[in-house]
Formats: sequence, C-alpha cells, structure tokens
Amino acid sequence: MVDEFSSFARMPKAAPESMNLAEVVKDATVLQRVSTRDIDIDVDVSKADFVFLFDRRLVTQAVTNLVKNAAEAIDGRAHKDGLERGHVLVEAGIEHHVPFIRVTDNGVGLPKENRNRLSEPYMTTREKGTGLGLAIVKRIMEEHGGRLRLQDAPSGIGARVTLEFSRLPEPLLVASA
Ligand SMILES: Nc1ncnc2c1ncn2[C@@H]1O[C@H](COP(=O)(O)OP(=O)(O)OP(=O)(O)O)[C@@H](O)[C@H]1O
Ligand SMILES: [Mg+2]
Repeated sequence: MVDEFSSFARMPKAAPESMNLAEVVKDATVLQRVSTRDIDIDVDVSKADFVFLFDRRLVTQAVTNLVKNAAEAIDGRAHKDGLERGHVLVEAGIEHHVPFIRVTDNGVGLPKENRNRLSEPYMTTREKGTGLGLAIVKRIMEEHGGRLRLQDAPSGIGARVTLEFSRLPEPLLVASA
C-alpha cells in the first residue's frame, strides 16, 4: 500500500472543498508516471474540467492506490515477452451528472473468485500486499457518498476499476467546454 494511511482505522474523514476534478486526477498521476517508466500511464481528463466538492487528499490517495494496483497487475503478467506493453489508462469525467474516475489496465485481470470481497480489508492475492489498498479506496468513496466498481477491462485483458461520486445537482458548474 502507498503511504500515510498505514492504519486503516486512522483514515481521516473527508473534508470536501471545491476542486477541479481534471487537475486533481492529473496531479495524482504525475509521480507514478515518472516512476513507472516501463509502463505507459495515459491520462484523459478532457471531460473532467469542472468543479465540485470533494477531498483532494483522499481522492489523490484513491487514484494512487488504483494506479499502483494496475502497475502491479501488469508486473504480474506471466510471460512478459511477446506481450503488449504495459498500459494504464486513467480517465475522469461525468456521466448522467455522476462524476467518475476510471482506471483500466492490461494486467493479469481480477481474480475470478471472491471478486466482490477484494475491497474488504486484508483481502490480498499478493505476497507482499496488505490488502488495504482497495479497502481504503472503498472507504474514501463512501465518505464521498459514492462507490467503487470492479470489472474486467472491456478488451477482455486486464481490469477496470471505477470510482463513482454522488450525483451532482443541476446546474453543474463546468469550468470550460
Ligand atoms: N488492477 C488490478 N488487476 C488485478 N487484480 C487487482 C487489481 N486491483 C486489485 N486487484 C486484486 O485485489 C486484491 C486487493 O487489492 P488491494 O489494493 O486491496 O490490496 P493489495 O494490492 O493486494 O495490497 P496493497 O494495496 O496493500 O499493496 C489484490 O491483491 C488483487 O488480487
Ligand atoms: Mg493495492
């Protein structure tokens, strides 16, 4: 797990502020993009240039945990030779007034069994995992009145994890088109 909430129980309550989703998601991926040179981490926040209330620090932590999982899933692929290059796509936007962040990878894919338990604390399939990464993400989304969704990547190879915030009341404050 990355960082400061090493104790799940110590996780702070959300302190929402008006934040631009595109900026926060872009900033959240900067460090991982430079530290993971063998994997392409693409970010598409072109539909996320709007402001709503969320906790920047917690959402940054959530994105960090998801990108770390994606990178580890790519490292876990059995025969690296002859495989497509590791690729992580981080997207953010809004659909039906629900802001979302979505991380798609071409790694090993989610385990077939106990999938709905992966976000429980201490559920891990990794030797060195704490199993807290997704539990923290889930808690963060609950703090925001939202949820966490785990799916197969649409290509059939890899995983897709989506964070959905609570639906925004109209009119939405869109910073630019
Ligand atoms: N992108 C992904 N691709 C495939 N499996 C995943 C992915 N993300 C999570 N998982 C599965 O969910 C499990 C739980 O993830 P979680 O982040 O909670 O813990 P962890 O990654 O194992 O440990 P830690 O986050 O402490 O390093 C992982 O062990 C893995 O089996
Ligand atoms: Mg993890």
